Amino acid sequence: MENSVEYAVNYLKTRGFIAPQIGIILGTGLGKLVDSVKLIETISYGDIPGFPESTVESHAGRLIYGELQGKMVVIMQGRFHFYEGYSMQQITFPVRVMKKLGINTLLVSNAAGAINLNLKKGSLMCIHDHINLLANNPLIGKNDTSLGPRFPDMSKPYCPQLISTLIKCAHKLQLPLHHGVYAAMQGPMLETAAEYRMLRTLGADAVGMSTVPEVIVANHMGMNVAAISVLTDECDPDNLKPVELAEIIAVAQQAEKDMIALFNELFTLL
Ligand code: HPA
Repeated sequence: MENSVEYAVNYLKTRGFIAPQIGIILGTGLGKLVDSVKLIETISYGDIPGFPESTVESHAGRLIYGELQGKMVVIMQGRFHFYEGYSMQQITFPVRVMKKLGINTLLVSNAAGAINLNLKKGSLMCIHDHINLLANNPLIGKNDTSLGPRFPDMSKPYCPQLISTLIKCAHKLQLPLHHGVYAAMQGPMLETAAEYRMLRTLGADAVGMSTVPEVIVANHMGMNVAAISVLTDECDPDNLKPVELAEIIAVAQQAEKDMIALFNELFTLL
């Protein structure tokens, strides 16, 4: 693992990814943040040694290096999901590469369903904690202590300072920002009514199919993490209507401008 990470890191350095400070993972329908970035280099995942190729049509599959609000940033425009058939190690490989490129702060976004029905579709939720229901995780197997500890602490997987900065930013932008717990399910099917009820009982406020593996690896490597869910649908088990992926993407795209404003504001304070 360490060798393949080093290989990818060296390749990216030759392509100009010299001094990144912050990493961003953009979720479904949330690729446009890149328009605010002064681009230095863009590389398809397929061209980076060790990177899997993205199979989801709504994900672009490009690694971007550029400048946002005066900070050097690496952006994953599109991510890898467990339901695509990748291993947990493959999904999280880019996070290991980001850390070895020198990045200590990781911002993650995703499209998620609202389990807490006080949260309305089209709004943003700052993730404070998560529940891993993927029935797997990227740290299974022999631990490489050069990457992180065998038993990483998960008492604060989402950085409290970053969360309080996000709260300040949302306040300044007069943008409603919810707070809650994100549960990760395998997918690719959406959940049944009984599963939504279960998720509510477990204490989840939102549900999606990503983020948790990347956040586990970022914590393993000692990175500071913040994550924002764009709530794309309301998962009311007593009134469940079919949801189309196209609808999820459309709502994500409507809410995207708020997420972009929030990330831009956050960058001015990092
Ligand atoms: N489940 C339900 N609704 C969703 C999801 C999900 O995983 N992602 C986006 N909306």
